Amino acid sequence: MSDESRPSPPQERAGTRTAVVIPAAGRGVRLGPGAPKALRALNGTPMLIHAVRAMAASRSVSLVVVVAPPEGAAEVKSLLDVHALPERTDFLVVPGGESRQESVRLGLDALPPDHDIVLVHDAARPLVPVDTVDAVIEAVRDGAPAVVPALPLADTVKEVEPAEVPGTPEPVVATPSRARLRAVQTPQGFDRATLVRAHETVTEDVTDDASMVERLGLTVVVVPGHEEAFKVTRPLDLVLAEAVLARRRLNDGF
Ligand code: CTP
Ligand code: MG
Repeated sequence: MSDESRPSPPQERAGTRTAVVIPAAGRGVRLGPGAPKALRALNGTPMLIHAVRAMAASRSVSLVVVVAPPEGAAEVKSLLDVHALPERTDFLVVPGGESRQESVRLGLDALPPDHDIVLVHDAARPLVPVDTVDAVIEAVRDGAPAVVPALPLADTVKEVEPAEVPGTPEPVVATPSRARLRAVQTPQGFDRATLVRAHETVTEDVTDDASMVERLGLTVVVVPGHEEAFKVTRPLDLVLAEAVLARRRLNDGF
């Protein structure tokens, strides 16, 4: 078959180029004192670099926009320069904002026009497997305006009346049926125009991007997440992340 007649790989098909925005501008207060969370090392490599590699591992991803800590954009640029990354992927760095929501919006503002699918991925989820990334992209390509990877919960969840004084007993208001609950991860995937509209329209504080699309009245769909896509939030999560990396190294070696 000549080069001209061969069908293009999916990432080159017109209208389906995929970009990823990685919000990495948080301080990581719950992780304790130290460098901004995304710049903290896991087995000697900054968490952000793990997250960037996890996204660039997908052959569908042609651009990664890193939203850096406001004073750390130059440092993030040089980190991307010194670490090995796939050549097929382009990288951009922009300074972030006060909230995650603002950081994502600043990343969206920096996107060039030729990407119709946008993923938003927390730098704090450095170990998500590429199969999860590809499953999210696939579901957006199949027509969902918003896609989130998620897992069933291990714990039962209670809604409470939050106490005014932290640490005092709180009355339970409700216990939603655990079978209907999912713990949501990233990357979350979107039709780009839908996500841009959500960020222009929704002004309430939210903790994920998909909930903004829900507020537009659109249906968000869930695909299976992965236990290795957990968020590094507290110090124990660093231990778990390094254990996962050690297990991968062992498995790769045999
Ligand atoms: N984030 C961001 N800009 C902010 C706040 C958060 O880009 N102003 C990013 C974080 O860098 C992280 C992701 O959003 O990759 C998820 O947020 P979270 O896990 O809460 O990270 P932090 O806000 O850094 O942590 P903490 O809430 O403990 O301070
Ligand atoms: Mg936070």
